[in-house]
Amino acid sequence: MTETDSGRLGMPVGEAMFSQRSIRKLRPDPIPTDDLHSIIEAASKAPNGGNRQPGRYVVLTEPELIREFGALYREAWWAKRRDEGHAWTTREAIPAEDAVHRGAAQLADEIANAPCIVLAFSTGKGQANSVLPGVQNLMLAARALGIGSVPTTLHPQVMDRVYELLSVPAEADFHLCIPLGYPRGNFGPTNRRPTAETTFFNGWDQPAPWAGE
Ligand SMILES: Cc1cc2nc3c(=O)[nH]c(=O)nc-3n(C[C@H](O)[C@H](O)[C@H](O)COP(=O)(O)O)c2cc1C
Repeated sequence: MTETDSGRLGMPVGEAMFSQRSIRKLRPDPIPTDDLHSIIEAASKAPNGGNRQPGRYVVLTEPELIREFGALYREAWWAKRRDEGHAWTTREAIPAEDAVHRGAAQLADEIANAPCIVLAFSTGKGQANSVLPGVQNLMLAARALGIGSVPTTLHPQVMDRVYELLSVPAEADFHLCIPLGYPRGNFGPTNRRPTAETTFFNGWDQPAPWAGE
């Protein structure tokens, strides 16, 4: 990627970071390959241990493949709820006030129609720390291009089938599944704890200078 190409991601980084929320309702419109290229280039620029660059991205754009993967994603989502001990087996059974699970269940129902899904792997096991910064870059670059995303996980119940579907070598380690698409709805803001609660200066429980402001 040249410097001119990086200009395609011209949104101020602060605007991208402060308005990047999970986008789970996606329009089916395809994402231009140039944009996918910029997004993956941005991911590749992230820090990683020893610059060994173990991150690998499998980008799904073929509708039939996304449909097949989407069925596995949906099965995985409900398997995770079962593991958590929830009795729900339909989206309607999720309490209306549980917006995160409701939204996530809707994504599980609709991901089969996403225009693009990126799966982030590493070439070997135990290298998440060298892949996740790249995924954050990927999502910020997507945000800068007006493309929504959300990091999601899968479940052991479906992993063999996912690896087989996408011809992933057994030694590769799966980290995150990131559906991409233009949002039905809006970006940001996000709802987070005050940083005065989450941040300490020079020792645990020592308040940040802005605490109490
Ligand atoms: C490790 C990780 C796993 C996540 N898994 C899922 C998931 O499986 N499904 C989903 O819809 N969202 C998933 N999310 C998104 C979070 O639910 C979301 O970031 C959080 O609720 C904050 O919401 P916001 O990004 O809209 O501010 C995941 C996020 C992370 C970092």
